Amino acid sequence: MRVAMIGTGYVGLVSGACFADFGHEVTCVDKDADKIARLHDGIMPIYEPGLEDLVAANVRDGRLSFATESQEAVAAADAVFIAVGTPSRRGDGHADLSYVYAVAEEIAGMLDGFTVVVTKSTVPVGTGDEIERIIRALRPDADFAVVSNPEFLREGAAISDFKRPDRVVVGTEDERARVVMTELYRPLNLNETPILFTGRRTSELIKYAANAFLALKITFINEMADLCEAVGADVQQVARGIGLDKRIGSKFLHAGPGYGGSCFPKDTLALVRTASDAGSPVRLVETTVSINDARKKAMADRVVKALDGDLTGKTVALLGLTFKPNTDDMRDAPSLDVAPALMAAGATVQAFDPEGMKEAAHLLPGVVFKDGPYDAVAGADVVVILTEWDQFRALDLDRVKLLLKRPVMVDLRNVYRPDDMRARGFRYASIGRA
Ligand code: UDX
Repeated sequence: MRVAMIGTGYVGLVSGACFADFGHEVTCVDKDADKIARLHDGIMPIYEPGLEDLVAANVRDGRLSFATESQEAVAAADAVFIAVGTPSRRGDGHADLSYVYAVAEEIAGMLDGFTVVVTKSTVPVGTGDEIERIIRALRPDADFAVVSNPEFLREGAAISDFKRPDRVVVGTEDERARVVMTELYRPLNLNETPILFTGRRTSELIKYAANAFLALKITFINEMADLCEAVGADVQQVARGIGLDKRIGSKFLHAGPGYGGSCFPKDTLALVRTASDAGSPVRLVETTVSINDARKKAMADRVVKALDGDLTGKTVALLGLTFKPNTDDMRDAPSLDVAPALMAAGATVQAFDPEGMKEAAHLLPGVVFKDGPYDAVAGADVVVILTEWDQFRALDLDRVKLLLKRPVMVDLRNVYRPDDMRARGFRYASIGRA
């Protein structure tokens, strides 16, 4: 199959490279000429484990190419994927669809022969209808079908999520489109991945429902964590105790500083807006959004408390800035709330993150960036673990203790064990463990 992938952001690039690796012929298109030039040189615009090698191998084998112009790729394509951003619109939280609709307008004139136009971007219910209307208005003669095919890729694990997904969701009522989509995902037959065909609106909603449910699950365990602290229980055991019930499941029950990233905050908000516009509010999701926002803001208080209520003139070492490990993505990361709050309370913040510091430098003015975890810890009054990068899991704690002015750790990801930390002479605070 021939694929044109419009947009080489996170989703477009990973999906394009994986489709090529499946044996399809893929052209990834992006207006950003610098980005395309760098991709031609093998330089990835994002940090994602395994991506660079995957791209290099498929470029070498001639299945993957890059272009700034879409004409040729779209005309030749069996499927054109729209994988451009849908950020939160400033002011109202609705998904901003201007990039998606601009692509629809642009490709309309280029379609040649039966073409499936697939939305990979996360788009509100009804967007597929609008894309169809836009293309039809510009090209009454075109032979095409618009399909919804949401992505469920986790950053840091995106390639394996693409190649070994729990399921693929395809929203279409068009039989010919169904055949093309089945062919595109045929390599997944090997692991017996269910391909769920639904109506287009249903598929669009599945994406939001999935993300909202996961956000809700995290928020639930975060509230349980606070309750555990108040009543002297252990949230990790609570999570295990409920997670072994197959109806609940053990995943996404890790309590922490609140969810961040490119999807959950944006998609939950967009769902809230869609639902309230449709006159069918999703109050659980509304509450989840506000609890999570408040939680991220409240995390700095835990550091203040660990230093007996006063941060003036103190130095805080932050380990981890990205919203989760194995990514350089800073979008809606808890660090964006925590670091400014600490500085506002009078502290100097010195930080280290294995991949996120380049981006963080623009977003966190005033923070002093260090070369490694021990550099960050040196001379600080407290060390805070904000992101559970593997390299923070086995820190040399004796060294950390020697480098700190006082042996205080606030572990917002429950990387270490309270009894062990206390035995080592640390004053230790974590999440949901008495
Ligand atoms: C998410 C979805 O998992 C993915 O299916 C969707 O397509 C895009 O959004 P991603 O944002 O990359 O993926 O990261 P994910 O691993 O889901 O984590 C999201 C946030 O939740 C992170 O801030 C993470 O730290 C937090 N989280 C996750 C928890 O606090 N506890 C958990 O148990 C799981």
